[in-house]
Amino acid sequence: MFYEPRLQNSGLTIDPLKALVVPRPIGWISSVDLEGRVNLAPFSFFNMVADSPPIVLFAPSGRKANGEIKDSRRNVEASGAFVVNMATWDLREQMNATSGQFPAGVNEADVAGLEMVPSRIVNAPRVAASPVALECRYLQTVSLPTLDPDQPNDVIFGDVVGVHIDEKLITPEGRVDITIAKPLARLGYSLYTAVTETFAMRRPQ
Ligand SMILES: Cc1cc2nc3c(=O)[nH]c(=O)nc-3n(C[C@H](O)[C@H](O)[C@H](O)COP(=O)(O)O)c2cc1C
Repeated sequence: MFYEPRLQNSGLTIDPLKALVVPRPIGWISSVDLEGRVNLAPFSFFNMVADSPPIVLFAPSGRKANGEIKDSRRNVEASGAFVVNMATWDLREQMNATSGQFPAGVNEADVAGLEMVPSRIVNAPRVAASPVALECRYLQTVSLPTLDPDQPNDVIFGDVVGVHIDEKLITPEGRVDITIAKPLARLGYSLYTAVTETFAMRRPQ
């Protein structure tokens, strides 16, 4: 089959595109507003896009029902920082709970019963139970084209300035065994996967 997403002519029940670009890692973004109130929300339009310096991005799209832009974007642009917490199999319910739409200023970590602990460099705290956290300084926002001028498609870039890794993930050989963390990734519809096995392949010389 072939379809054009702009024409929504796949003939399937739901546009399958987001079920095809998979698995998408989940950036579980913590930030604070100018009053220091904590915000936590998951974003699967998330990835690492540069190495040196290490740069990550996440993409808040659309608006809240009350017409405001998403709290994560507003906080990061105002405070200049965010933390990417790893969403894991063990934290799946809490991650999902933090995606609910709450008024600005509501701490989704409290809603989900998650303890937050201070970061080392940036003002946003991190999820204590998450085995990996990336402290990021806000770099820039890129506004992408949108088919609905009322619904922004923005991409937030951040420079990773600090990395927390739970010692449990580190092997005697000095590597990270990510299957111990079981990171969650987003598939299409309401489906997820977790990284529980890996295989190795070397690049040709
Ligand atoms: C697994 C998962 C991934 C999500 N990915 C995105 C995303 O990439 N972009 C987005 O705008 N919303 C995404 N959402 C929805 C946001 O988490 C939701 O809109 C949240 O309320 C935003 O919170 P905020 O206003 O506190 O920033 C996702 C939700 C879930 C559960």
